Amino acid sequence: MSQKRDEILSRMEAKFKAIDQDTDVHLEGLVWAKPITYWDYIQTEALLGLQIQRTTLPDEMVFIMYHQINELLFKMILWEADQVCTGENISAAFFSEKLMRISRYFDMLSSSFSIMQHGMEIEQYMKFRNTLTPASGFQSAQYRLIEFASTELINLIDYRFRATIDRNTPYEHAYNHLYWQAAGKDHSTGKKNTLITNFEKKYKNFFIDKMEEYNTTNLYTVYKKLPDAVKNDVGLINAMRHYDHTVNVRWVMAHYHAAEHYLESGGKKAEATGGSDWKKYMHPRYQRRIFFPDLWTEEELKNWGVDNLESIAKLSAPVKK
Ligand code: HEM
Repeated sequence: MSQKRDEILSRMEAKFKAIDQDTDVHLEGLVWAKPITYWDYIQTEALLGLQIQRTTLPDEMVFIMYHQINELLFKMILWEADQVCTGENISAAFFSEKLMRISRYFDMLSSSFSIMQHGMEIEQYMKFRNTLTPASGFQSAQYRLIEFASTELINLIDYRFRATIDRNTPYEHAYNHLYWQAAGKDHSTGKKNTLITNFEKKYKNFFIDKMEEYNTTNLYTVYKKLPDAVKNDVGLINAMRHYDHTVNVRWVMAHYHAAEHYLESGGKKAEATGGSDWKKYMHPRYQRRIFFPDLWTEEELKNWGVDNLESIAKLSAPVKK
């Protein structure tokens, strides 16, 4: 037997011994194991069996599949973020590398949003959307987890209530004052709408657990605890600014324009499927969701979501705070 084979066998022996297993049994198992194929490994058949239309309109398929692609990318984002949130002795290089991966995924989501805005016939969309009420992308749980994983809870609280909330506020109270609760109110009666009632039935307890978990491990808190030399790394600061801007301005604007394209088509104004006061609610100027406020200048904060192009141009400038 070759020296290499001996080496591999002794490493296997050590591995199985550590978990009280007989190496020979595992080797015998290998004799009978099926060779792996692409379709088994990637689970293509399961994946391609998940697109179930509610109507006969072909463009509904575009809508379903693009949402599924988004959810897969959300999962990739959380996968990277969690490595920073749970990591120890994080270096600037590691933090920047993970942030740039996350940003690339979000860049992809922002630039591909034209698939929604231009990739469906308005007439078809306006028909199949009637079968989706009262559901909405608002009910994406992973999107909310990305927010909890990215920043301190105070930055996700509705501006009107920030003064009443601090680190000692119970999680449930903070939850009830998250900025997105505003879309969960029927804007004519002020009562919780079906969109949020259904969402909370399914996820509220899970969200409260996650809020607690990420309270001390979110990206912003991890960043703030880094040694000054790492914290002031221009590459890292720019990576954080890029991520913040991509999620909270670029993606939000792409989403807003897609909503506008359909809901205001033909000069008419349609209600959102989730029932929010969407025109006001979805605009970054109103929502002002900012993950890393300390990394922006006063001027940039003042103009959040206003001068989109100029803020992108300024992204690589060192922060002056
Ligand atoms: C034609 C395509 C789309 C339209 C017209 C649209 C419209 C809307 C509207 C009007 C809202 C506000 C809540 C409501 O009342 O429903 C909303 C929220 C939301 N949508 Fe979409 N959407 C589209 C595509 C997508 C896609 C592809 C995703 C990806 C998962 C998505 C994710 C979300 C999220 C996460 C929210 C909550 C945002 C927040 O709270 O700020 N949407 N959408």
